[in-house]
Amino acid sequence: MNSRIISFSGKGGVGKSTLLVLFLKYLIDSKKFKNILVIDADPDANIGDLIGREINFNQTVGGKMTDLKKKILRREFPPNMPKNSIIESEIFDTLLEMDNFDLLEMGRSEGEGCYCSVNNVVKNVIDTLSQNYDITIIDSPAGLEHFSRKMSRDVEELVIITDPSKMSIHTIKRILEITNEVNLNFKNIFVIANRFPEHLKDFLSNEINKMNIKNLTLLGIVPNDNNINEINISGKNLLDLSNDNQTYQILKKIYNKLI
Ligand SMILES: Nc1ncnc2c1ncn2[C@@H]1O[C@H](COP(=O)(O)OP(=O)(O)OP(=O)(O)O)[C@@H](O)[C@H]1O
Ligand SMILES: [Mg+2]
Repeated sequence: MNSRIISFSGKGGVGKSTLLVLFLKYLIDSKKFKNILVIDADPDANIGDLIGREINFNQTVGGKMTDLKKKILRREFPPNMPKNSIIESEIFDTLLEMDNFDLLEMGRSEGEGCYCSVNNVVKNVIDTLSQNYDITIIDSPAGLEHFSRKMSRDVEELVIITDPSKMSIHTIKRILEITNEVNLNFKNIFVIANRFPEHLKDFLSNEINKMNIKNLTLLGIVPNDNNINEINISGKNLLDLSNDNQTYQILKKIYNKLI
């Protein structure tokens, strides 16, 4: 089986992380993939929060790299030690091993600019890392920094989440524009409409058709779900959402089209 890389993106607050964690639940339940890597590339939000696990800054790539930069400045490494291998081992060290998947929290990256060489190496290491997994799923902020990556472009697929707002539909267009500008050719681009009323589905379909992009497909719409709210606000693990939950049933059908 080829390794797959699927990124979830969309406007802030539309439900990217929620639908990504439920996708993860589906992947685990379906047993279609042996090794799953989750990358939380959103510096503001933690997948950890959604799965009831507290993750602090020094357990993130950003945290490790901040530390590493200080160590490099203090010349704590022998000058001939290759930077790549130090970074690589630090990133492997950041991987959190969960029961059924591995999680990489990117966290905030500090001190950009003069350290961009470090940041580039980080990107490359992550690309290499994802090749060790059958599937990698990425929670990607709409800031789109992630999309400027050069590697893996033709194997990656993109899921854009939207809610019933003009703003989030506008974000779909912006994401499509940017991927086009940086020549990032996703194999497939899917839209999932979250917290979306049935009667607006045709409207959205129409909007998406008007975007006139060959490999862009509306996968389905997901209703608002009170159980999801409850689990979220009480800090419980979203992976424990009941298999009988109606929204999960709907999502299973949607995700089945995806993989
Ligand atoms: N289908 C749904 N039904 C009910 N609540 C939902 C649903 N989808 C998402 N939510 C809730 O909406 C809020 C935002 O969701 P989430 O954090 O997944 O969005 P996000 O796009 O990842 O946000 P951010 O851009 O801040 O990372 C959360 O409180 C989540 O529980
Ligand atoms: Mg999020």
